[in-house]
Amino acid sequence: MTDLLPLAVLGLGPMGRALATAALAAGHPTVVWNRTPDKAAPLVAQGATLAPTAAEAADRARLVITCLIDYEALRATVAAPAGNPPATLVNLGSGPAAEARAMASWAAQHGTDYLDGAILTPAPTIGTPAATILYSGPRALYDRYRAVLACFGGTSTHVGDDAGAAAAYEMALLDLFTMSVGGLAHAYALATAEGIAPAAFAAYARAIGGLLPGMADRFAGHLEAGTFPADISSIASAASAVTHVRAAATARGLDTAALRAVQALLDRAVAAGHGGDNYARLTHLLTRESESIS
Ligand SMILES: NC(=O)c1ccc[n+]([C@@H]2O[C@H](COP(=O)([O-])OP(=O)(O)OC[C@H]3O[C@@H](n4cnc5c(N)ncnc54)[C@H](OP(=O)(O)O)[C@@H]3O)[C@@H](O)[C@H]2O)c1
Repeated sequence: MTDLLPLAVLGLGPMGRALATAALAAGHPTVVWNRTPDKAAPLVAQGATLAPTAAEAADRARLVITCLIDYEALRATVAAPAGNPPATLVNLGSGPAAEARAMASWAAQHGTDYLDGAILTPAPTIGTPAATILYSGPRALYDRYRAVLACFGGTSTHVGDDAGAAAAYEMALLDLFTMSVGGLAHAYALATAEGIAPAAFAAYARAIGGLLPGMADRFAGHLEAGTFPADISSIASAASAVTHVRAAATARGLDTAALRAVQALLDRAVAAGHGGDNYARLTHLLTRESESIS
């Protein structure tokens, strides 16, 4: 497989532009398409060809890379238009695993070889060693194109033949990210309401954030072992802490919806007799609840 395959990049948001820039920098003949064509101008200046339609871009390339806002946009771009479905499609846009699997079914029905991917790092990392991209779908297909996909830089990992596997990782990681961002925003709101300057608060907030890597590893250990000894801190202690935080936030007139949701989870854990366990038990509880709902 030549490393200088003609590529098409469909979708020129910040990430699509970064992917196309990396493809061009690696020397791939690159055709681009975007719903709003103006965004292609800097890429055309770097040597890309702008196609008038997605179907025409796909026809001119051996490998089609899509990077759109969601799967609905992906379907509107590659599945709806008249013209041939792409021979080989690698979707690097985000969405739930079920949507990636549905896209893989569509691809199988239309003779398209399909890989789904999840980019775990921001657009400026693309083409640098800092990029991290997960791929899923047929392993042999990934192996056929991995040298080409290497132009996007960094670390690429095939995480499973199930087309939804990369998206599943991405959704769980976005779960962590978005909940953490929510916590950070709320903490700054409370600190500010209490008259603490953001700059003064930052050093302590950073230290709390620094606990997460160790906790991530300990959670994995406890979940793998199925044991939840409260050797560092317990759910009962967290339930007490969130009660204090909620009271403080309420007193300052802040929105407490997210705190109430966490408090309800902790209270359920305590009521179920898990107050003496560590926080990883909460994962177990959430999983069991969702299993019993489904
Ligand atoms: N930016 C990052 O750092 C980053 C990091 C990791 C993952 N990602 C993922 O990469 C994907 C692209 O992200 P992004 O930041 O480049 O921008 P984005 O705002 O998520 O997506 C913008 C792209 O989607 C296109 N689009 C939206 N609706 C469409 C539709 N109905 N039909 C056709 N095209 C449509 C836009 O076209 P127009 O220009 O015409 O609006 C544009 O090309 C997302 O799934 C995102 O989660 C991004």
